[in-house]
Amino acid sequence: MGQTIAFCNNKGGVGKSSSCVAIGQAWARMGKKVLFVDLDSQANLTSIVSTLDPSQREVSIRDAFLNPDLFSIENVGENMDLVASDLSLSNFDRDTAAIAGREYLLLDLLKDVKANYDFILIDCPPALGLITYNALIAADHLVMVTTADQLSYQGLVMVANLFADVKSNERLNKTLKLTGVIVTRYEKNKVSELYLNKIKQELGQAVIEPVIRKATKMQQAVSLKQSIYDLDPSGKVTADYIEVARQLALRILQ
Ligand SMILES: Nc1ncnc2c1ncn2[C@@H]1O[C@H](COP(=O)(O)OP(=O)(O)OP(=O)(O)O)[C@@H](O)[C@H]1O
Ligand SMILES: [Mg+2]
Repeated sequence: MGQTIAFCNNKGGVGKSSSCVAIGQAWARMGKKVLFVDLDSQANLTSIVSTLDPSQREVSIRDAFLNPDLFSIENVGENMDLVASDLSLSNFDRDTAAIAGREYLLLDLLKDVKANYDFILIDCPPALGLITYNALIAADHLVMVTTADQLSYQGLVMVANLFADVKSNERLNKTLKLTGVIVTRYEKNKVSELYLNKIKQELGQAVIEPVIRKATKMQQAVSLKQSIYDLDPSGKVTADYIEVARQLALRILQ
């Protein structure tokens, strides 16, 4: 049965989507079957991994939430599939207001496909609302993504509180595990060292080593629609993500 992993932080721009993509691609290259699930109406994950023109896509995850018969999975490469998102997901709260148990919509959608994958990676929006609740209820593992600075750290604390809330409630997800904290875009200086230490003090063993170093290749990969493994096979950020993907898989499968 596939393991479902939610990549979260309340703070925007910390590397959630980039990490989700880089780790999923690393696993796919190791021969694992991967499903990406884009839960962000910005659809960054979708635009990074899919070559399909958005106007050609007939349905997105928002349609499937309203009508599960419309649940659609597209292939985006060897061992990699995608449940795509688009801007229509920004009305999720209003669109689903009349649906009872709307915290469980994603759990229900993924139930039937879980067995087809080794890993299902959910890219969360930079918010802790109903969509992120859906992710944490559907997930087996929470991976927090953060940069080493004050505002991302505050976001992390908020995710940690939500995690505790979801875990402590019998009807939500008692078996959710905090499986990893990934520190991204790391550049060694006094402030980043201070916050890296703070993160380690708060979250201890959950922090995955190595940290992901800052590298412009990450932005280049997105604009060239290439994976970092093809664009820069011997690059530092590529090496960091290969090791983090390996470590995370070990933790998930142990
Ligand atoms: N290791 C890195 N080094 C340099 N730039 C990076 C790195 N990782 C990500 N970036 C860049 O940082 C920006 C934000 O990354 P990303 O979109 O993954 O963050 P996010 O947390 O998903 O953002 P959002 O909250 O808006 O969804 C992007 O331009 C991305 O290319
Ligand atoms: Mg994102």
